[in-house]
Amino acid sequence: MSFRKFESDAEVIAFARQNSPIFSSEARLHVDEIGDGNINFVYRVADGAGNSLIIKQALPYVRIIGESWPLSQDRIRIEAEALRMAGEHCADLVPQVYHFDAALCAIVMEDIGSHDNLRHALIARRRLPLLAEHLGRFLADTLFFSSDLYLDAHRKKALVKSFINPDLCKISEDLFFVDPYCDHERNAINAPLRADAEALWNDDLLKLEVAKLKAKFLNQAEALLHGDLHSGSVFANETGTKVIDPEFAYFGPIGFDVGSILGNYLLNFAGQANLPGDASERRDYQQWLLDGMATLWQTFESRFRQHMAEQTNDPSLQLPQYADWYLGQLLADSLGYAGTELIRRTIGLAHVADMESITDPAQRAESERLALQLGRTLIVEREQLADMEAVIQRVKALAG
Ligand SMILES: Nc1ncnc2c1ncn2[C@@H]1O[C@H](COP(=O)(O)OP(=O)(O)OP(=O)(O)O)[C@@H](O)[C@H]1O
Ligand SMILES: [Mg+2]
Repeated sequence: MSFRKFESDAEVIAFARQNSPIFSSEARLHVDEIGDGNINFVYRVADGAGNSLIIKQALPYVRIIGESWPLSQDRIRIEAEALRMAGEHCADLVPQVYHFDAALCAIVMEDIGSHDNLRHALIARRRLPLLAEHLGRFLADTLFFSSDLYLDAHRKKALVKSFINPDLCKISEDLFFVDPYCDHERNAINAPLRADAEALWNDDLLKLEVAKLKAKFLNQAEALLHGDLHSGSVFANETGTKVIDPEFAYFGPIGFDVGSILGNYLLNFAGQANLPGDASERRDYQQWLLDGMATLWQTFESRFRQHMAEQTNDPSLQLPQYADWYLGQLLADSLGYAGTELIRRTIGLAHVADMESITDPAQRAESERLALQLGRTLIVEREQLADMEAVIQRVKALAG
């Protein structure tokens, strides 16, 4: 069979029936196109009796742009395989993949609709009690078990090869590390922030550190990353957390995933300074976000350390002093990449609702300025910030 886009509800329903056992043969099914993302088509198929599933189809181009922005359909294979690999170690934290169809470039997966988009939850200042622990565990397990600290040398290299993802990596290479550091036509800059952006383009110390982070992103095949771990790729409620959409997955530096999600905590932190609502409630929520960052890092660090002590078989990587040094490097990398996420979401192409929901441009610029300062500080000072407590104190000092 060759590729074709689903053209009707009937086609989507037939595909859902063929590839999952969850619907009875007499059930009447209906389809909604629910994709609110930019890149792919996402459908929910439901029977009205509480059973449903999700179908995600990748076209050979970006959905909201069209054929003028071609994009490799191999991304959907990569997404299916990354979800399956994550499912081996943290099955409760990702949707189950029921089926992947290589010809139709489509995944059939579990509907995680009882969870809410984390970005919306953070903007609404919801306190999700298990979120930070779940994210720390997701990061420790997906990243450790796909690294040389765990895998046999041949298996690791075979995986690196099968997750080569040049089209999607190129998007990150440009949007994270090129555009925000020059006057690029893809950038979107709030008018009152223009002078701050121009100052950043002339900041050679910052640009040197960003070059080092980019070189690592290009060259360091350390573990299988999610690759796009922003708060819109996380769905959560009071009891559960689900990570979706790993189409940018590839073998890269661990700190990129950890830093992406920490950067999204801080984007919301900066947004809360000027989002609507009671000032003391917003300040309390900022503290909740910082506590969450501490818990996330602590969970990640202790679990990763425990995996290194118990599951690393390579004798050359077993020294306890090596674990200390290695986790110190991971913190520095994570802070650096968190900084690049803060900056690229503020003056680059893809902004976030945590800022965009601040309607007054001058007020929004205040939050954006804080995001730029936080980003710069994390990048430039990443080797000096000794632990997450020091990071949090630094963030508080900058926020004033
Ligand atoms: N397994 C799922 N269960 C429930 N809803 C889902 C599921 N997967 C995706 N969705 C919904 O579809 C939306 C788009 O999904 P996803 O982010 O995977 O698509 P995308 O086109 O890759 O988006 P992006 O432009 O962010 O890359 C999600 O925000 C979510 O609302
Ligand atoms: Mg996506």
